[in-house]
Amino acid sequence: MDKFLINGPCRIKGNVSISGSKNASLPILAATLLFNKPVIIKNLPRVRDINTMLNLLKSLGSKIILSRDRKTAKIINKKNMKTFASYSLVKTMRGSILVLGPLISKFYRSKTSLPGGCLIGARPVNYHLIALKKLGMKYKIRDGYIIAKSDGRLKGKTIKFPKISVGATENSIIAACLAKGKTILKNCAMEPEIKDLTQFLNKAGANIKWSGRTCIITGIDSLNQTTHTVMADRIEAGTFCVAATLAKGNLQVKNLDPKIINTELELLKKVGAKIKTTNNKIFIKGPDKIKSIKNIKTKEFPGIPTDLQAQLMVLMCKSVGKSSITENIFENRFMHVAELQRLGAKINIKNNKAFIDGNTNFIGAELMSSDLRASVALVLAAMVANGKSIIGRVYHLERGYENIENKLKKIGVRIKRLK
Ligand code: EPZ
Repeated sequence: MDKFLINGPCRIKGNVSISGSKNASLPILAATLLFNKPVIIKNLPRVRDINTMLNLLKSLGSKIILSRDRKTAKIINKKNMKTFASYSLVKTMRGSILVLGPLISKFYRSKTSLPGGCLIGARPVNYHLIALKKLGMKYKIRDGYIIAKSDGRLKGKTIKFPKISVGATENSIIAACLAKGKTILKNCAMEPEIKDLTQFLNKAGANIKWSGRTCIITGIDSLNQTTHTVMADRIEAGTFCVAATLAKGNLQVKNLDPKIINTELELLKKVGAKIKTTNNKIFIKGPDKIKSIKNIKTKEFPGIPTDLQAQLMVLMCKSVGKSSITENIFENRFMHVAELQRLGAKINIKNNKAFIDGNTNFIGAELMSSDLRASVALVLAAMVANGKSIIGRVYHLERGYENIENKLKKIGVRIKRLK
């Protein structure tokens, strides 16, 4: 398994281009199962999770023609597709559960593996199942699989999610596109990635409208051929903005609409970063002194995203005072804390709240990645640590950050891959 060697401390300077969003690409690729006609998806990030989803679609019978740079996929489905999503593929990427909605809505049956948990939590899919059942899906769980079928076309219903869930919202919207009649989904997640999904589906002739956290889908018979360019990855952009704030950087972040990370940018301004924006660029200058923030709380969009929590914790370690971070989305998303403590961080955890002493002087060490976002937090910490750090299991990073080592090298980080 490859490792990264990072020789800190590094200053950050230059510009970085943001890739397509992994978390917008996954539901959009899953939704292509609804199509009878070819569909073209552009700006896909070249990351492991997208390969997994493309392989899953192929295993279901989709023909996938990739462009030379692997960022554009032309997807052509057969008339009779398979409807078996195997554990071997689903276990490597939880987002695979998003094929359940389109399979049941288009083919009226599916055998989809339960995704299983991961390090950040149990990751149940009960809200997905409750909603799809209300639309007419009948299922039983056997041998770790969801064996599902419906008596013909799903039927539109009014459904209120008990808790806000990105994946359950996505699965239900996709399934409702071909249902008979109107579906009203209440208490939906409203992440920009979900809006990108509904924009894609509406371009293909779906009828999806939003009003706050309510999404109204009027079912149609079939979707038209279309081409869609996936939005930029706001978590990657946020990660680079945190990096610049952390390392007294002077960075231009390109290819995304800064409005989608407005909450994060406002927080970084509070911390002391100087930020200017245009319609598709962010200019960010890191402060000499990083101000601490008393209590950062992760929330559903438009709050501070849980996917940026680990990166912000590194920033607070280097701030001049005490701070705390409350993780409100996942039950076990402090896996990075033990590794940061190996670098010298002073963090105490009480339930879902981390209390952080600032003024930490990180000393390079050997570190182990756990989940995708925790891994990038270790890279940020190593970047400002004194001395050499080695970070193991970088495949976690490759799941969601395209070409991360070259992007970091290009802006001044002394990073090397060790085979
Ligand atoms: C999506 O996961 C993202 N993944 C996650 O990003 C992100 O952290 C998360 O949304 C929150 O923003 C993708 O988009 C592929 P949820 P998802 O359903 O859909 C509980 C990354 O690093 N829940 O909004 O799984 C759940 O356990 C990944 O890119 C249920 O209890 O998140 C969690 O505590 C990590 N039952 C909370 O709700 C359900 O049926 C929010 O989960 C579904 C969720």
